[in-house]
Amino acid sequence: MTISLKSALLRTSAVVSAAAFAATTVAADEITYVSGATGAAIENFAALVAPWEEATGHTVTIVPMPSSTTDQFGQYRLWLAAGNGDIDMYQTDVIWAPQLADHFVDMSEVAGELMTTHFPSIVESQTVDGRLVALPIFTDAPALYYRTDLLEKHGYDAPPSTWEELTEMAQAIQDAERAEGNNDLWGFVWQGNSYEGLTCDALEWVKSSGGGQIIEPDGTISINNPNAIAALELAATWPGTISPEGVLAYQEEEARGVWQTGNAVFMRNWPYAYGLGNGDDSAVKGLFAVTTLPTGQGHDTSAATLGGWNVAVSKYSDSQEAAISLAMYLAGPEAQKQRAINESNLPTIMSLYDDADIAAAQPIIPQWKDVFLQAVPRPSAPTRQDYNEVSTLFFTAVHSVISGEESAADALADLEVDLEDLLDK
Ligand code: GLC
Repeated sequence: MTISLKSALLRTSAVVSAAAFAATTVAADEITYVSGATGAAIENFAALVAPWEEATGHTVTIVPMPSSTTDQFGQYRLWLAAGNGDIDMYQTDVIWAPQLADHFVDMSEVAGELMTTHFPSIVESQTVDGRLVALPIFTDAPALYYRTDLLEKHGYDAPPSTWEELTEMAQAIQDAERAEGNNDLWGFVWQGNSYEGLTCDALEWVKSSGGGQIIEPDGTISINNPNAIAALELAATWPGTISPEGVLAYQEEEARGVWQTGNAVFMRNWPYAYGLGNGDDSAVKGLFAVTTLPTGQGHDTSAATLGGWNVAVSKYSDSQEAAISLAMYLAGPEAQKQRAINESNLPTIMSLYDDADIAAAQPIIPQWKDVFLQAVPRPSAPTRQDYNEVSTLFFTAVHSVISGEESAADALADLEVDLEDLLDK
């Protein structure tokens, strides 16, 4: 298969709008696209790709996958290892590129010009040994969501700036509200399930408490230290007090469910929850604001884990040319703008942060540019092929601490040994 005509045309077109894809197609392909189901992404997909389908004559079927990125990764790795040709495109997490690179088509040449409009660090994260294995469609950096009405009612004029303050405020507001009969209200909801999302949350507690980033960019295993232990000890007090016991099984969508029905004072979640929280069916519409996550007491730098999603084309697809064209469209300004407006996803195209329509529809987006630019990456670059195992060891250790099975000191001492074994240090 060759990518000649279309790629030549695309290289000459700086603006990748659906119209740029027109009249380059000979036969109609049916593209199968797999994606995790979080928020409204699946239901909005048909409208998102309709202009591309119309311009090219190709069609796309989206196959919804579990919301958990850990579960998606496990399934995709099996399919790809088996050389599955039924799936043309994968929506991929920012952390997966080094581990799945061999199974994906290199798009560096086709997408070279488009990529100059994206933040270079994100393009870099999807580049493995010089091959651009996935094109960015949105980036992610979490927020602390808080109920402006409840803070005001209970006499607070600002959201908490430390985790300790958050703990106290959440408890005080929860107690006062329950005394008034608001029995379903919880102080703080977050992602406590044993999966990749807990790696993100716990990295934030640890990093913002001066405890490093699990494995440093130079490969040093740093997680077993007093600041990290203290951060986990505080988090371990939350389930059953300011957070429901069930938080130990929560992913993003469970936290959003509690929040959006009006039953939480604070929530840690990604920007997708912003637009949905302001939807007509949301009990918290107009009653909340976002700020950066707190810091550990005595530390002044907040930490947001860098997330984000991309599209990759399978090497085993028979429709690579059409799939690459769709990847270009989804990573381009038209689709990213639509996703920003409809799903409050953060664009990876720099100029969209100055777009007036986006700012009007989703004020969190321009407000969040600096937060994402300073976001902390998970250690997928220094651990490459081992990242999934590293993260699994980390979130399993953290889960044993927050569920009260193990002390933070023991869990992190054991984790350090396990990481040394795994990474052969
Ligand atoms: C969000 C992030 C992704 C992360 C996941 C964890 O989807 O964008 O990078 O791995 O949450 O649950």
